[in-house]
Amino acid sequence: HLSVKERIEAKRRAALAGGGQARIDAQHKRGKLTARERIDLLLDTDSFVETDMFVEHRCSDFGMEQDKNKVTHLPEVIFYFFNIIFCLCLFCFSQDFTVFGGSLSGAHAQKICKIMDQAMKVGAPVIGLNDSGGARIQEGVESLAGYADIFLRNVMASGVIPQISLIMGPCAGGAVYSPALTDFTFMVKDTSYLFITGPDVVKSVTNEDVTQEELGGAKTHTSVSGVAHHAFENDVDALLNLREFFTFLPLSNQDPAPIRECHDPSDRLVRSLETIVPLESTKAYDMLEIIKAVLDEKDFFEIMPNYAKNIVVGFARMNGRTVGIVGNQPKVASGCLDINSSVKGARFVRFCDAFNIPIITFVDVPGFLPGTAQEYGGIIRHGAKLLFAFAEATVPKITIITRKAYGGAYDVMSSKHLRGDVNYAWPTAEVAVMGAKGAVQIIFRGKDNQAEAEAEYVEKFANPFPAAVRGFVDDIIEPSTTRKLICSNLEVLARKKQVNPWKKHANIPL
Ligand code: COA
Repeated sequence: HLSVKERIEAKRRAALAGGGQARIDAQHKRGKLTARERIDLLLDTDSFVETDMFVEHRCSDFGMEQDKNKVTHLPEVIFYFFNIIFCLCLFCFSQDFTVFGGSLSGAHAQKICKIMDQAMKVGAPVIGLNDSGGARIQEGVESLAGYADIFLRNVMASGVIPQISLIMGPCAGGAVYSPALTDFTFMVKDTSYLFITGPDVVKSVTNEDVTQEELGGAKTHTSVSGVAHHAFENDVDALLNLREFFTFLPLSNQDPAPIRECHDPSDRLVRSLETIVPLESTKAYDMLEIIKAVLDEKDFFEIMPNYAKNIVVGFARMNGRTVGIVGNQPKVASGCLDINSSVKGARFVRFCDAFNIPIITFVDVPGFLPGTAQEYGGIIRHGAKLLFAFAEATVPKITIITRKAYGGAYDVMSSKHLRGDVNYAWPTAEVAVMGAKGAVQIIFRGKDNQAEAEAEYVEKFANPFPAAVRGFVDDIIEPSTTRKLICSNLEVLARKKQVNPWKKHANIPL
């Protein structure tokens, strides 16, 4: 007979042993870390407190009762901790694939829900490390109920606390919807996959031959589907990047975006920007170069770098303050807005707005991408998302037009008309309904003085003056002063308070 103290010790030891050495070895052999090893890497040493170590699954069907007695471990691990970086507090759960394949039992779901409830109570982010075979088959509807309990919490927490999912193994079936509801989904290359149904079901329903990797691997979701926001090389790389990512976020929608000490002078002039925009307006250049040049220490955490590359979004700091960056990318499809880039931009802008992160927008956009593929795909509906997101955002909004701001896309890209707080144009800016060639073809159709008309159009519209004389841009600035001006404006705008009319919720076009 063991004393209570001995029993406590024995249960803790069993819990720490997870699914046993053989399964831990198998996990390592696949290049994956265990749930606790991952937590150790993610968090500051010894800063976390594990809860619910004594929870056990309650299933007694299909030999599970006997299994529970055999291994008296809990079916998953969950930790909450604080003080990971800069004394920031967060809540975290880490699914243990060595225990029943990390599958979700009722008890497993309960533990996740408890963590999420705690996080909501104190207003702190939740990070989920996902590695799971999905619903615990032996528990039937109990595990499905568990998923729904998590989904509901994901939805209730949306816009209140940041929620981040890191997919570090399988995530299939209903399990995919929790990551899909969170703000950011990151994946690990080669070892993680997300899909509604696996390759076998795909084969039987649509007769397609596809591998797990092709169907739902990191490359697919970060470059084709847009389901995931970043892919990392391995567990260690992913966890270290997640630590870095976390430092950009506020704890909740009640907290300001973090400010870090900054050693990069806020009044630094960036001379290289004076010559970066090519003289011919049809020539491409890399908007990332402009973005990085103005940021603190050129440090940019790009979101979705391989998806819809015609728009660039990501987090950075300006004089130590977290900012969200949105920029058209002239290097890809001339920076046109299309369905995917509109959705990518809109979701990012909405995250920033929900979490008090100022938005800096760099504009060089020749318009929306024409064509049947875009129209049939619903570019009108999807483009409206980006417009909606910029318009409803009440965080500080600073916009720099580096070159083209044409047509409806001019309006959309955080224009003055959508409550841009500070809108600047570079001398190279062209704010017009469209480019000279297209415009002249329409308004001088059939006339023979095309070249003359084109020159007149360029003189009149292909410059920043029409917008500046109307106050639609606040100033025409020297490109080298861009960093300095953004930093000083952010200081002033930190006091900005703007409230939208009361509503139950808006009806963003979906
Ligand atoms: N329910 C209960 N147990 C599960 C499970 C689930 N959904 N998924 C995996 N497991 C168990 C396995 O029985 C196995 O147990 P064991 O170690 O005692 O033999 C262990 O987890 C590891 O699974 P295994 O199949 O050996 O790992 P794998 O890496 O070869 O395959 C999966 C991983 C996820 C592809 C595979 O387990 C699978 O297809 N699971 C079912 C997925 C599913 O359809 N889930 C329901 C969708 S909501």
